[in-house]
Amino acid sequence: MIQEHRAKWKRLPTLDELAIKHQTDKSHLHTYTSTVYPQFLDQARYFPVSLLEIGVLHGASLRMWDEYFIHPGAKLFAWDINPECEQGIPSRFTFQEVECLNEGQVKAAARKLPNLDVVVDDGAHSVLTAKANFEALWDKLNSGGLYIIEDVKFGRHSKIAAVIFAKKTRSEVHIYGEVIVVRKI
Ligand SMILES: C[S@@+](CC[C@H](N)C(=O)[O-])C[C@H]1O[C@@H](n2cnc3c(N)ncnc32)[C@H](O)[C@@H]1O
Repeated sequence: MIQEHRAKWKRLPTLDELAIKHQTDKSHLHTYTSTVYPQFLDQARYFPVSLLEIGVLHGASLRMWDEYFIHPGAKLFAWDINPECEQGIPSRFTFQEVECLNEGQVKAAARKLPNLDVVVDDGAHSVLTAKANFEALWDKLNSGGLYIIEDVKFGRHSKIAAVIFAKKTRSEVHIYGEVIVVRKI
């Protein structure tokens, strides 16, 4: 039975194939979907995960996640400062308009979410927003869940900041160039 399922799974497109198909920069500008994410996410794609991505732009990564997380019970959420981003996103996604520089808005939006298995912060890429998002969302993350901060461009302090954030509670921190993956224990 398990063998049959595995054979079926193998025919599914990989995360990187989906990233290329939908043209998110997670593949073409960075290499997250080929190098970092599969090891953390490939098992989860068959389960009813709840995922939040912060930062929508044209919805490319949302279309990738929509096709990648095949379980019909998956719960998918997206935040962006720009309300126009809601147009054309996959119907499984619930969109929230959030200005991540506004801590009050971030906290209020977080309160409306269920507990989460995966958070991907691909929004403003600043220390301030990364920290506000992390503070508001960490308690929402299930044990074993992943908190990912992409495109960490805020200099030398970024890695230190991430470790400090993560030390608030028990967690594993993995840093791969410009992406930080924190697993809640
Ligand atoms: C890099 S793009 C997201 C790309 C998308 N995740 C993908 O891979 O296709 C960043 C997005 O973050 C949003 N953003 C920028 N600053 C923000 C802020 N302060 N609060 C919320 N969203 C913000 C932008 O509107 C933009 O849509």
